[in-house]
Amino acid sequence: MKLSITKRALPALAALAACAVVGSAAAQSAQPATITGNAEAARDKNSMCIGCHGIPGYKASFPEVYQVPMIAGQNAKYIEAALKEYASGARSHPSMVGIAKSLSEQDIADLAAYYSSLK
Ligand code: HEC
Repeated sequence: MKLSITKRALPALAALAACAVVGSAAAQSAQPATITGNAEAARDKNSMCIGCHGIPGYKASFPEVYQVPMIAGQNAKYIEAALKEYASGARSHPSMVGIAKSLSEQDIADLAAYYSSLK
């Protein structure tokens, strides 16, 4: 279900992306735009999450000693907030802190959009 919706939305997303490119060229010195998560873009970014958080829809199984929370289907705002808390040190799991610090705000928004769109 979700996938077919995403496919139908692709032309619209492509058009948006084209606008964004034109727009940013025209307004390079303007305020940074509000960051919007793009689930499609996260498909290239989630390779480092899969090992622990599992393939979409499944609980992670590696390494077994970890109780890795399921993030597929989790609320986007929650995922975003959690990643920022790891990055800031407000949450303190060593692996997640290292990973969260390596992500840009755009990466976080994209990953949140991606994982929240999974069931
Ligand atoms: C080395 C294993 C590992 C990798 C790789 C990993 N995670 Fe995690 N992640 C964990 C563990 C373990 C926790 C629970 C940590 C805790 O108790 O705070 C967690 C927690 C989280 C949470 C908070 C979930 C909740 O319910 O509070 C989010 C969101 C998250 N990870 C996202 C990601 C994303 C996105 C990536 C890829 C960029 C990623 N993780 C990569 C192991 C990993």
